[in-house]
Parts: sequence; C-alpha cells; structure tokens
Amino acid sequence: MAQTVLPGFPINRPRRLRLLPGLRDLVAEARLHPNMFMLPIFVSEHHEKPSPIESLPGHYYYPPNSPELIKSIQQSLELGVKSFILFGRPSHKDDLASRAYASDGPVQSALRNIRSELGYEPVIATDLCICSYHSSGHCGVPGKCRIGYCVDNDSTLKLYQKIAVSQAEAGSDIIAPSGMMDGQVNAIREALDSNGYSDISIMAYSAKFASNFYGPFRDVLESAPKWGDRRSYQADFRNARDALVEVALDIKEGADIVMVKPALAYLDIISLVKKEFPYIPLAAYNVSGEYMMVELMSRSGFADKKALMLEILTSIRRAGADIIITYHALEAARLLVEV
Ligand code: PBG
Repeated sequence: MAQTVLPGFPINRPRRLRLLPGLRDLVAEARLHPNMFMLPIFVSEHHEKPSPIESLPGHYYYPPNSPELIKSIQQSLELGVKSFILFGRPSHKDDLASRAYASDGPVQSALRNIRSELGYEPVIATDLCICSYHSSGHCGVPGKCRIGYCVDNDSTLKLYQKIAVSQAEAGSDIIAPSGMMDGQVNAIREALDSNGYSDISIMAYSAKFASNFYGPFRDVLESAPKWGDRRSYQADFRNARDALVEVALDIKEGADIVMVKPALAYLDIISLVKKEFPYIPLAAYNVSGEYMMVELMSRSGFADKKALMLEILTSIRRAGADIIITYHALEAARLLVEV
C-alpha cells in the first residue's frame, strides 16, 4: 500500500520512474532545445583569417567580412541554433571608443556581411559596451567625480545611443547593452525610436554582477579595466535585491528581454527573477569562466565533458531561464540532435 508522503501524493518509490532511459525521458521536467541557445561570436579587426581563441577553446576570431563567419553561422542554423550575439575586437582602442560606433566597425561590418549573405534567417544580437573599444577598458567613459576619477554615467549614455543607432543601421535585431549604466535601456530605447528603429528589441544585461568568472572573456577582447575594477557599476554579488531592482527598472525603461549574468553561481537569482517577473523573457549568460571550468575539469579526467555541460545547462533552464547564452551552444545542440 502506498503511503501518503505529501498531501495528495501517494508516492513511496521514486525510483520506479528512474528505471529506464525512456521512462526518465518521459517524465523529465526541464528540457533543453537548440533554439533556446544564443551563441557568442567574436569578430576581430586584428585577424585576416579565422583564428582559434586560446582562452576559449573551440572558439574563433572571425574577420568581419570573411566567408568563414557566414559558414559558421550556417552550420549553427543547421543544428537549430538560430540566434547569435556579436562582440567586436577593434583594430585600435581610443578615448572616444570610436570603433564601437563607426559604420565600418567590426560589429557593423560583420552584420552587413551576414545580412547580405543570409538575410534575416539568423537572429543577431549585438553586445553594446565600450570596454573593448575604449582605452580605459571600462564600460563607460571615465570622468572627474567627487572622489577623484570615476566612470561617468550620463556622458556614457550619449555614447551608447550613438552605438545603438549604428548597430541598428547595420542590421541588428536585438541591442544588448552590457555596461550597467543607470538609465541605459531608456536612453537606447529613445535613440532607437527617434531614428526609426522602434521595431528593434533590447535585451538588457540587467542583473550583471561584478564577477570573477569573466577572466577568459576579458583576455579574448583585451577588455580588462586599466585601472580599478567594475564594482562601481556592476552589481554586488552579495545582493539578490540588486537583481530585482535592476530588472524592475529595465522593464520600466522598455527592455524586451532581461538577463542574469553569470548563470551558474547565480541560479538563485535566475529563479527569483523568473518568479517575480514571469511576464518577460529571461536570458541567462553562462559566462566564459563557467565554460573554462568545464573544459579544465574534463581535461583533468574528473568528468565527462558532455555530461557535465548538459547538467549545467539543464540546471540553468530548471532555474527558470528561457534563453541561455552559452559558448557550449553548438556542442550541446549536437548532443540534443543526436538523442
Ligand atoms: C562587459 C562584458 C563582460 C562580458 C561580456 N561583456 C564582462 C566584463 O568584462 O565585465 C563577460 C562575458 C563572459 O565572461 O563570457 N561589457
């Protein structure tokens, strides 16, 4: 006789449904699908041909105008990964972050190449930040402030508006501001709308924490800050409330998608945001340091890379993410297509 362990649930042998792979698959609650992955792509003005990125094994720098960039997107589409986020590595950094808004900047050129070869089949998001374009390595423009030198919020917003419009002009579907300036979503929405781009979405890096998991990425783009750190603008990881405030503000300012970043050490935040804001799509960014942990653990022989990767991605999904931005996108999609 089954006994009631929970009111209304006479289950006393949870193992019954774990006996066969088919049974486990049948009752699986959190499932992954290639369509929910967004793949980061690095376009670089430093490279004349596709070159492996040492700090992100399996990934490449693509010259913005290269046929290989197109080919790699086509291969992803075939696997069901249909959305991408572009990051640019400019030929040079300066105090204006000029390659971030130049109409022939790395991201703008890549976008034009993609649109002319593949039309609107791939969904292309563009990261909007200046850390890899500005000589300071900061996400905003440095300026004098009452304690000396700071990242200035409001002059940065003007620059973000310019960058957003240039990305929209080049064919971006989703502008993704990642600099954590106050009011950035509002500023970008206004700039897009007043330039005729009211149908371009904004995916806000809303709850972006000052994290130690960004190391490999900063190496990829040489975007580490030249002085200080990012703790005066990115959220403090001791505070879950910061995520709620930032997401609420971004929704009010007009974000179409909100994001929690990083993902793995922030599953509680993903789950909290999903619970408090169930009516807006939620993205989670499975960042470079998390990717590297999987790589290093599998290299040392302590885990099967594929299994570990699927466990992590599934946990991000289970916590409530609708979209997962991940460097594992293609490998995971391949596994999901196989089964
Ligand atoms: C900043 C930015 C960062 C990442 C993407 N955009 C982090 C940072 O340098 O603070 C990190 C992504 C990753 O680690 O994969 N604009």
